[in-house]
Amino acid sequence: MSYQLPVVDDTLVWDAWLAMYKVPALSVALELDIFESLDAQPTSPAGLAQRRSFNERGLSALLPMLLQLGFLTLHSGNYQLSEAGKKYMLKASPFYWGHVFKRVGKTILPHKLLLETINNERANAIKNRPADGWESGHVDMEMAREVTAFMHSHSIAAAIGMTHTYDFSAVNRVLDVGGGSGCFAIALAQLRSDIQCVIMELPTICILAQHYIDDAGVSAQVSTITVDMFRQDWPLGFDTHFFSNVFHDWTIATCIQLAKKSYAALPAGGCILLHEMLLDDSGTAPNPAVAFSLLMAMGTMGQQFTLPLLRQILEQAGFTNINSQHSYGYYSLVRGSKL
Ligand SMILES: C[S@@+](CC[C@H](N)C(=O)[O-])C[C@H]1O[C@@H](n2cnc3c(N)ncnc32)[C@H](O)[C@@H]1O
Repeated sequence: MSYQLPVVDDTLVWDAWLAMYKVPALSVALELDIFESLDAQPTSPAGLAQRRSFNERGLSALLPMLLQLGFLTLHSGNYQLSEAGKKYMLKASPFYWGHVFKRVGKTILPHKLLLETINNERANAIKNRPADGWESGHVDMEMAREVTAFMHSHSIAAAIGMTHTYDFSAVNRVLDVGGGSGCFAIALAQLRSDIQCVIMELPTICILAQHYIDDAGVSAQVSTITVDMFRQDWPLGFDTHFFSNVFHDWTIATCIQLAKKSYAALPAGGCILLHEMLLDDSGTAPNPAVAFSLLMAMGTMGQQFTLPLLRQILEQAGFTNINSQHSYGYYSLVRGSKL
C-alpha cells in the first residue's frame, strides 16, 4: 500500500475527538469545588495543588482547559473566575449549572479518570492503562494490537504530512524510538528509497509493526528492533533519532533520561527530532494542545510541552541549535543537534 497525502488535513478529526474532554474538565472542577477555591483566592496550579492537596501536574493541565473554555482568566500566573465562571459555576449564583454537570459526570469514564488524577489516586478507573505496560516494558498482545491500531489511525496522516513539510534531505539512517505501527518510518521510506529506518519498540509492538511494514511494501528499508528504551542499550549507527508522541507520555525527569540516552547513542553531527503537538510559550493555548495535554495528564505520566520546556530538556542532555517548525495539522517537529 502506498500512502498519499490526504487532500484535507486531519484537524477536523482531532477537534471532534478532543472536544470530549471539555465536559469532564467542567464536571470535575465543579465536583472538587475548584471554582469556589479560585473565587476565594486566585492561584497558580502549584498554589492550588498545595492548598487543596491536589495533583499539580493534573491541575497544570486542567486550569488551562478551563481558561480555554472561558470560565477562568489568567493574570500574572494566577487563575481566577471569568464573568461566565462567576455566573454559571459558583453554587451561590442563581444561574449555577453544577446540577447538570453532576449528573453528566456520573455517566462518563473520563470524569472518573480525571477526578482520580486530580485527587492523586492513579488508575483505579482503568485497571490496565497502556502507559502502565510501557512503564514496566511489558505489553500483552491484546493490548498491543488495540493500542498500535489506535496509534496508527492517529498518526498516519501526520506521518505522511511531515514528509511534505520538513526537509529530510540530510537524513539517511533513522532510529524511530517508540515508533508504534511504524507509520513515520514507512512515510520516510516512501519519501526516499535510500533512507533506512529501524523501529525500536517493545516485543509485541515489533511483531505488529512488521505487518504494517510488509503491507506498505517497504521491508527493504524499514525493520524493527526489540529494545526496552529504559532498560536496554540503544543500537548505534543512526544519524537521526526520531520520537513521535513519546516525550508527552513521560515526566520531565524521564524525558531528560531519554534525551541523554539518545545523545549518548548518536554520533557527532547527529540529530534528535521530536514530533509533538506543542503548547505556545504561555502553556495555556492553543485549544487542541491544551485538551491533548489534559488527556495525557489522565492517561500517562506526561503532558504536552512548550518549545522552551523541550529546549530545556534537550539542552540538559547536551543537544544544541534547538528549533521547531510546523509539521502537519496541529503537530510540530522540534530538532536538536549533537555537535
Ligand atoms: C504514544 S505511542 C507513539 C507511537 C508512535 N511513535 C506514534 O506517534 O504514532 C508511544 C510508543 O512508545 C512505545 N514504548 C513505550 N514504552 C517503551 C519502552 N519502554 N521501550 C520501547 N518503546 C516503548 C509504546 O509501545 C508506543 O508504541
